[in-house]
Amino acid sequence: MTPRRTAPRKTAQDRLPGDLTADELVARMIRVDHAGEYGAARIYAGQLAVLGRSPCASAIAEMAEQEEKHLANFEALIVERRVRPTLLTPVWHAAGFALGAASALLGERAAMACTVAVEEVISDHYANQAMRLGDDEADLRATIEEFRADEIGHRDIGLEHAAQEMPGYRPFTSAIKAGTRLAIWLSERI
Ligand SMILES: [Fe+2]
Ligand SMILES: [Fe+2]
Repeated sequence: MTPRRTAPRKTAQDRLPGDLTADELVARMIRVDHAGEYGAARIYAGQLAVLGRSPCASAIAEMAEQEEKHLANFEALIVERRVRPTLLTPVWHAAGFALGAASALLGERAAMACTVAVEEVISDHYANQAMRLGDDEADLRATIEEFRADEIGHRDIGLEHAAQEMPGYRPFTSAIKAGTRLAIWLSERI
């Protein structure tokens, strides 16, 4: 017996009446990912403004460079797919930098704990998106999977730099995770 080929999966194929269409879903994904990468780039810029001469500066600079690459990619997708960017960009401009600088002012471990918290939420978010995209969006799915691997690498850099030794690591990272999830929720909708 010849094995049955599984039919290609389509984006939003299980949608119910009232759910977002595939186009709406994809536009929402590009909008929030663009916002997220923008925010991430600002966080690392804020950290570098404070820790630019510290021993962990090169690790932060490396992550910042990758976020700029991710951001450029989503900026191109915003144009190509005619997606309206979030209206909250000016908020993420200020809040991202402030979070980066404030965590860095608490010390290198706190800066790295901030990285662990943010990158963990973002990598889960990307995993969730990749799961929802069908074979009709294979390119976008591949981009998201590639960036997710980078974000996991960033989290690991944080862990390697003793993030967990920061006093108050648990409440600190829980608060940042909650803020990141709220930022994701808002950027999908506004
Ligand atoms: Fe990123
Ligand atoms: Fe990242």
